[in-house]
Amino acid sequence: MISLVDDRKLIGELNKILTLEHGHLGMYENYPDYKDKDIRRTFRRFMEIEIEHINKLKNTIRNLGGKPFAIVESGNIIGRMLGITIQVSDIKNTLGSYSLIEKKSFEGYSKFVLDLEEDAEKRNQFIAEIAVSNMLEADLMHLWLKDKLKTMR
Ligand SMILES: [Fe+2]
Repeated sequence: MISLVDDRKLIGELNKILTLEHGHLGMYENYPDYKDKDIRRTFRRFMEIEIEHINKLKNTIRNLGGKPFAIVESGNIIGRMLGITIQVSDIKNTLGSYSLIEKKSFEGYSKFVLDLEEDAEKRNQFIAEIAVSNMLEADLMHLWLKDKLKTMR
């Protein structure tokens, strides 16, 4: 439960999510490197979605009077956080890892949204709605990656 009396806790939570979103951005940034045109196009759009997620979180943190911490280090922070080794050279391994990461992201957001919704305060309900849109997109990305992996032979 995220207490509304403790704004710092909420801002801290949002900053944690922001760090993960920076990691997601790192996964798709190198979209031109993929041989598969479908993956190139999809990852490009996924990259744009991750930028949107980052901006929404930053704006929310700022509107709460907080300061987003800019972890600009891209690449494999996610892998390290989840203890997964990502080998971009192995496309199936990449799709599998990314699918798992997006699934975890969806689950993380779901929990965050539930915590916020337990609080009757209007402001937290509002932040829950912002988080829900990121949550849904993480789920969509997860499902696309899972499906693509199934059709890659
Ligand atoms: Fe994301």
